[in-house]
Amino acid sequence: MVDLTTRYLGLELRSPIVASASPLTRPADTARRIQDAGAAAIVMPSLFEEEILHEEISLNRALEAGSEHFAEALDYFPAIDDFADAGERYLADLDRIKAACSVPVIASLNATSTGGWVRYATLLEAAGADAIELNLYHVAADPTRSGQDMEHADLEIIAAVRAGTRLPLSVKLSPYYSAMANFAARAVAAGADGLVVFNRFYQPDLDLDTLEVVPRVELSTQWELRLPLRWIAILRPQLPHRASLAATSGVSAGTDVVKAVMVGADVAMMTSALLRHGPGHLTTVEAELVAWMDTHDYASISQLRGSATSATSEDPSAFERANYMKTLHAWTAPNELTPRSP
Ligand SMILES: Cc1cc2nc3c(=O)[nH]c(=O)nc-3n(C[C@H](O)[C@H](O)[C@H](O)COP(=O)(O)O)c2cc1C
Repeated sequence: MVDLTTRYLGLELRSPIVASASPLTRPADTARRIQDAGAAAIVMPSLFEEEILHEEISLNRALEAGSEHFAEALDYFPAIDDFADAGERYLADLDRIKAACSVPVIASLNATSTGGWVRYATLLEAAGADAIELNLYHVAADPTRSGQDMEHADLEIIAAVRAGTRLPLSVKLSPYYSAMANFAARAVAAGADGLVVFNRFYQPDLDLDTLEVVPRVELSTQWELRLPLRWIAILRPQLPHRASLAATSGVSAGTDVVKAVMVGADVAMMTSALLRHGPGHLTTVEAELVAWMDTHDYASISQLRGSATSATSEDPSAFERANYMKTLHAWTAPNELTPRSP
């Protein structure tokens, strides 16, 4: 029997296969199907800061109007109900998922500032979340803000949420930090118990018939796993042992989970594969993982974990440069481009 158990953010999981944040992980019935198909933990989709701010602004406006013009305030109140309590609705959904599922449920916050998150972290803890994933999703499009400014702001958010809860805290990173290893280490020092590597940024397209921007979500391909694989291999030997690592982007088959664990991930997360094939795909992925480990004589996930990182640990930058040169030199030209001898 292969032992699939792993530890992630201090939580004991029955396997390293986790369902990442997506529209599938919010309704309690699909969350339950995902668990029953084999997910060892479930990450809820993010509660966005803007949703909460939008409500709070609307509520304040209505209350101000109420004190000055009562008749107008009456008009405001039905509108408040429409988008009232994005936070409350999120907490209610978390409560339903907790009632339906026995695996750990990780709530996700998408923050752009420190305000309000401490309060929400406390509320999520009270509502039964087993951990919080902080989704730091932003595009550095402001020319007046340096990389240092942006990193400093992110670290402040991590520290503020850390201070607001005793729950395990993971931070979902984008791949666009200019000095990834440095930022990852500082994120852990600021209070992250684990890093989720990497979030996918959605690239809008242009529709040439309507001349409009098309905010299309493309599901990932397996090829995209290479970026998290490379960075987890680089980060694992350099981060404190207590820091967990999760691979996300391009995980689709059992062999992808093998690769993620081999480079040092504690868990591998899936969204696109579940949206494509449905929750039942998790059962296939687990069977593939077990079959691979059996065939290659790995008895446990702890034996497999990190078995491919040691080569990079001495001098990661030199290792990466050497590999870059080797890869470029290894390219072989198709026949028609090969120079003929005279
Ligand atoms: C439709 C959709 C919705 C998503 N919503 C969230 C979200 O609310 N919060 C978040 O952190 N990630 C969100 N993600 C990102 C996924 O959790 C995941 O990190 C990403 O899709 C890469 O994994 P994959 O290759 O398995 O899809 C979403 C992805 C998709 C496709």
